[in-house]
Amino acid sequence: MVKIPSDRSLDSTVGLLRHGYQFISKKCDQLQTDIFETRLMFEKTICMRGVEAAKVFYDTDKFTRKNSAPKRIQKTLFGQGGVQGLDDKAHRHRKQMFMTLMSPARIDDLVTLTRQQWRNYAQRWTQADRIVLFTEAREVLCRAVCEWAGVPLPEAEVKLRTLQLAAMIDSSGAIGPKHWQGRLARQQAESWIKDLIESVRAGQLTASANRPSNSALLVIAEHKNLDGTLLDPQIAAVELINVLRPTLAIGRYITFAALALHEHPEIAQRIKANSLHADSPSVEWFVQEVRRFYPFFPFAAARVKQSFNWQGYTFPQGERVLLDLYGTNHDARLWENPNTFWPERFRQWDEGRFNLIPQGGGDFYLNHRCPGEWITIALMKTTVEFLTQEITYRVPEQNLTVDLSDLPALPKSRFVMSQVKSQAEGQVESQFEGQVENQIAQT
Ligand code: HEM
Repeated sequence: MVKIPSDRSLDSTVGLLRHGYQFISKKCDQLQTDIFETRLMFEKTICMRGVEAAKVFYDTDKFTRKNSAPKRIQKTLFGQGGVQGLDDKAHRHRKQMFMTLMSPARIDDLVTLTRQQWRNYAQRWTQADRIVLFTEAREVLCRAVCEWAGVPLPEAEVKLRTLQLAAMIDSSGAIGPKHWQGRLARQQAESWIKDLIESVRAGQLTASANRPSNSALLVIAEHKNLDGTLLDPQIAAVELINVLRPTLAIGRYITFAALALHEHPEIAQRIKANSLHADSPSVEWFVQEVRRFYPFFPFAAARVKQSFNWQGYTFPQGERVLLDLYGTNHDARLWENPNTFWPERFRQWDEGRFNLIPQGGGDFYLNHRCPGEWITIALMKTTVEFLTQEITYRVPEQNLTVDLSDLPALPKSRFVMSQVKSQAEGQVESQFEGQVENQIAQT
């Protein structure tokens, strides 16, 4: 047996905070390995990257998700008792509940609602001096996903609920006051959603034209555990929030997509020239490259179920293991020039379950791979179509730096747009011209 290489430091938490998304890859490069053992938050942790590591990480005989997420992440991002911490039969049963929400017809419904919201917001933007795309995207997505999920959202509550759902994501890597804001936001959101679950069960909220029986609120409120009992209302709330919160999180990819369009005007031109609709291959490649290239989830966490050997290394029972999602998406053995933004790489992509893993890998039904991946891609596509064809805008001077030590990361300015004009109103010739003009204005 070979001992797993160790980084020999007493604790690497400071290194993780300093290098953020690149922490595992930098250490792997330094130790010339794809696997090493370290201590994070004073706990022994095995870190690994690459396609072979991903394959073993998603072997459900070898790993458990029980207690794999640190408590501070459970209290903010994930919630307690949700699908993320389940294993085996219980996991597959709960996961099926999420997958029933992801039919092509239901995803189309969400796309339609989101597109409508973008159009409504664009009308308002034309009157504003400038807007922050990231902030607007969260609200657009909050309105769309609540309507889609059958969750009543009075106008007066839109901002509050958007902030609560967003705070759980923003606080996920934070310490101090921001972390406590995230905890409070979760408590408030769980109480809001728990009341709705109870209203469904009491017959006060029922299926209707706007709330089909296969909407998330009704499916989750009525879901039965393997023993035939209903989900505990608190856990049902955690699971419904597991649909609402990450849909708002797509606002981060949307912000990165706008950044990529801005920084690569030649790619924006090609998208504009080749695509009349969101299903065009150039939009698909662009969206996949945004998901591959930009940082979101740094890694996924699990624990060793029972000791086993892999590639000559012993994995001790109970030890925490992190799979480097960002590093695998930037692995030069899988991706030519991984640090170049190049959508065309997806023209001949060798699609696999373990190479492009920004939302986890493996099988949707059997593993913990994100059930929202199709929604994410569909909403990104429709938004890219909206940004490139339905509006024009300028990108004023601002700090667009993305700091890879921020977990989660975003462009510093959150992408400010000015002089937004809606094509629908016939106010401008073309977005494409607007973008080119904008590039010229900036140089
Ligand atoms: C910005 C877009 C998103 C990103 C980056 C993302 C990322 C991820 C990642 C990395 C995982 C964990 C994979 C693992 O542990 O192996 C995950 C799981 C999950 N995601 Fe997403 N996600 C996104 C959007 C969504 C959407 C739109 C939904 C629902 C509508 C969703 C619902 C979930 C759920 C319920 C899980 C837990 C699955 C399980 O434990 O089996 N996510 N996501």
